Amino acid sequence: MNETHRGRLTREGIRIHEAADFAGMHRAGALAAQILDEIAEHVFVGQSTAAIDKVIEDRVNASGAKSATIGYKGYQHASCISVNHVVCHGIPGDKVLKDGDILNVDVTVIVDGWFGDTSRMYVAGKLSRKAERLVQVTHDALMKGIEAVRPGNTFGDIGHAIQSYVEAHRMSVVRDFCGHGLGRVFHAPPNVLHYGRAGSGPRLEEGMFFTIEPMVNLGRPETKVLADDWTAVTRDKSLSAQFEHSIGVTATGAEIFTLSPAGKFHPTWA
Ligand code: MF3
Ligand code: CO
Ligand code: CO
Repeated sequence: MNETHRGRLTREGIRIHEAADFAGMHRAGALAAQILDEIAEHVFVGQSTAAIDKVIEDRVNASGAKSATIGYKGYQHASCISVNHVVCHGIPGDKVLKDGDILNVDVTVIVDGWFGDTSRMYVAGKLSRKAERLVQVTHDALMKGIEAVRPGNTFGDIGHAIQSYVEAHRMSVVRDFCGHGLGRVFHAPPNVLHYGRAGSGPRLEEGMFFTIEPMVNLGRPETKVLADDWTAVTRDKSLSAQFEHSIGVTATGAEIFTLSPAGKFHPTWA
């Protein structure tokens, strides 16, 4: 059997990986998470997002891994950095961070052919009360989604867990972007929706690898993409947050491949 594509596909085209493949995903995920740990000290008032991206690119190169985003559909950076009302795919640039800005930094690396994709929130200066609430609800929504992962549940159960949690806090789930299968490829079936009906969608099976990466807005869920063809923003200019883990379905639940080695996944932790 071909090394690149072991295992089988479900009816929906979702790859079922072999037990040995978890180790490769663990290594890739750990590097991506470690890089996000390391950039925490590079996020401060007056810092440019390009400077943060440069730290990430240098760190990826120094580790002998590859950036999955440089050259992906013409994208030229080692990270996406999405500040305040930017929902996702913010392009690093000269703009400097101001006191109270919140930002998502999203990194994907390739280690021995395996993709590790994770993002989390940071703050420059002092976190405002409303931004803190948004960041907390978004983080907790991701974890609710992960708690719904076990063989026999469905992808709809994940989306439902996230959406019901977010809406109970009177915030909204972005519909225009979703999580994705990954493994030896960056984006594979299925689309992992962050909203939905319990019991709907494909059934989860041991050996599936995918991301869960909910984007949550303080205002309305609608987004638009700017003229640069990447930057997605909230239409109503409300604040947006996102957290992302890459996970694998185990016999009893989920293995999170992108756990923070330093325990710094959330901006108010250590
Ligand atoms: N890492 C993003 C994701 O979560 C994808 C970024 S693609 C890029 O799927 F080209 F914008 F970098
Ligand atoms: Co992703
Ligand atoms: Co990502």
